[in-house]
Amino acid sequence: MAYLITEALPTDQLPNHLLLLGDENQQLIDTYLPTCQVYLLTTKGQSIGICLLQRNELTAEIMNVAIEPTFQGQGLGKMLINYAINVARQEGLERLVIKTGNSGIAQIALYQQLGFDLVGVNYNYFLEHYSQEIWENKIQCKHQLVFTLSLGVDN
Ligand SMILES: CC(C)(COP(=O)(O)OP(=O)(O)OC[C@H]1O[C@@H](n2cnc3c(N)ncnc32)[C@H](O)[C@@H]1OP(=O)(O)O)[C@@H](O)C(=O)NCCC(=O)NCCS
Repeated sequence: MAYLITEALPTDQLPNHLLLLGDENQQLIDTYLPTCQVYLLTTKGQSIGICLLQRNELTAEIMNVAIEPTFQGQGLGKMLINYAINVARQEGLERLVIKTGNSGIAQIALYQQLGFDLVGVNYNYFLEHYSQEIWENKIQCKHQLVFTLSLGVDN
């Protein structure tokens, strides 16, 4: 199957269900979305993946990333994040940040496989910022883990 990654235009209709898959808090999404570059992964004209990159001087943060459930586990999430890494590198940025919950076993594995290092923990972040309890892998999501990838030429 052929896949295409393109940057969305500000006027493009975005797949909100994918944004909600990556972040259950619609209010937070609405706050950071206007400040992000949006990359869409499409196949046969259908958006099946989304990645939001928020640039901040010499660093950028992947604010949201999601792949349509029926397309997960085929390397597409890795492809989309690698694309964002290349964009950040080409823009001359020094570091890329990505955050996830303590219960996201697959995400924690994936980000480290891509070279991200755990650099911090925001304790109780999800208890304080999300009204509903979040459970994944039979683990309550309470804390936010902060990972960074150094984009320097030596890394
Ligand atoms: C996280 C997400 C974007 C990953 O996309 P994906 O297309 O499913 O992931 P990929 O197939 O590219 O890669 C998954 C990698 O993670 C690893 N992985 C997945 N589940 C794992 C698990 N339970 N344990 C260990 N490693 C796991 C695998 O090693 C795999 O790499 P490999 O196939 O080369 O071995 C996708 O699952 C998703 O949209 N999830 C819901 C939204 C979400 O949680 N977004 C992130 C918010 S922080």
